[in-house]
Amino acid sequence: MGAEGQLKATLKEISEPVKAEFDALERHFKDYLRTDVPVIDSIFQHLLDGGGKRFRPLLVLLVATCKKNASPEDINRLAVAVEFIHTATLLHDDVVDQSDVRRGNRVAHHIWGAEPSVLAGDYLYSRAFSILVEIGNLGILQAISTATTSMARGEVLQLLRSYSTATTVEEYVEVITGKTASLIAGSCRAAGYLANFDDDVLKALEHYGLNLGLSFQIVDDLLDYTAERGVFGKTAGKDFLEGKVTLPVILLLETLGSGSRRKVADIFLKETPDPDDFEKVREMMNQEGVFDKIREIAKQYSDTASAALAISPESDSRTSLEAMAQYVVYRRT
Ligand code: IPE
Ligand code: IPE
Ligand code: MG
Ligand code: MG
Repeated sequence: MGAEGQLKATLKEISEPVKAEFDALERHFKDYLRTDVPVIDSIFQHLLDGGGKRFRPLLVLLVATCKKNASPEDINRLAVAVEFIHTATLLHDDVVDQSDVRRGNRVAHHIWGAEPSVLAGDYLYSRAFSILVEIGNLGILQAISTATTSMARGEVLQLLRSYSTATTVEEYVEVITGKTASLIAGSCRAAGYLANFDDDVLKALEHYGLNLGLSFQIVDDLLDYTAERGVFGKTAGKDFLEGKVTLPVILLLETLGSGSRRKVADIFLKETPDPDDFEKVREMMNQEGVFDKIREIAKQYSDTASAALAISPESDSRTSLEAMAQYVVYRRT
């Protein structure tokens, strides 16, 4: 595809305006999660050690520093809380999806079991909200609780629609809006409250986050078909095996004539697909131009995200938020 070559900025470059705060996050994660139950700490530490992009807290730092009047302590609280929520959803999601690899490491439920992993996720979720309460801003609580409700809804909808080859693009967008874009949108809006932005800017920031989040998840679903082994940090091909009807499948089925469509749908619905099936379908997607089309769709969402930023004041942080919209389109991990 060659599109990877177009990556304009790395996360390291994007984080430059908030470098000190971004680096300090790793310490704050630990400080805000001290429990007297070692298994919670161990599970959390395991996920932290795996790395992760810290994409959502970085957005919080960048949005909150678009104006220079936010309290540094509250910025840290919000950044930590959104990463805790994200981590909690990963713990739950990996149990639901029966995944094996997360952040390049074995998933927590293979090491500690499903029950401790789900419960540690619950703990992280609750802890996140208690940190948000410390900020004492109802708008922020509303933005994040709306996001988490929407996430849970998206995960359930996705589960209900697995193996449903009649899923439309609109239904797919509904799922990814919930499971992924809502937290990213909520994080941006919440950070906007910390910077004391007016309502119209808050709306624009939320719109930025929503479109950025859609682009982010569309590329995630693309990488599930195209990622190089060992770079993605997750097992490529997992969506196909799980019967997740993501954009690559929807667009392939849309492109094919009825005979081939039937054949692909039959492969997708097989109880135990053989290893060649994934390769076969992936090759068809490539030949039909599905991957290029998806990158283009992601780019459109990212462009919409960038355009939404015009209303906020010019700053190095805003420039980084614009770069972030490009980063999500060409990321490889
Ligand atoms: C993974 O999110 C779950 C999705 C919404 C695709 P990230 O890709 O942000 O995961 P980490 O935190 O970098 O591991
Ligand atoms: C991730 O969904 C979204 C949440 C964790 C809420 P996926 O199941 O598509 O993400 P990965 O592929 O496991 O990271
Ligand atoms: Mg998953
Ligand atoms: Mg999932």
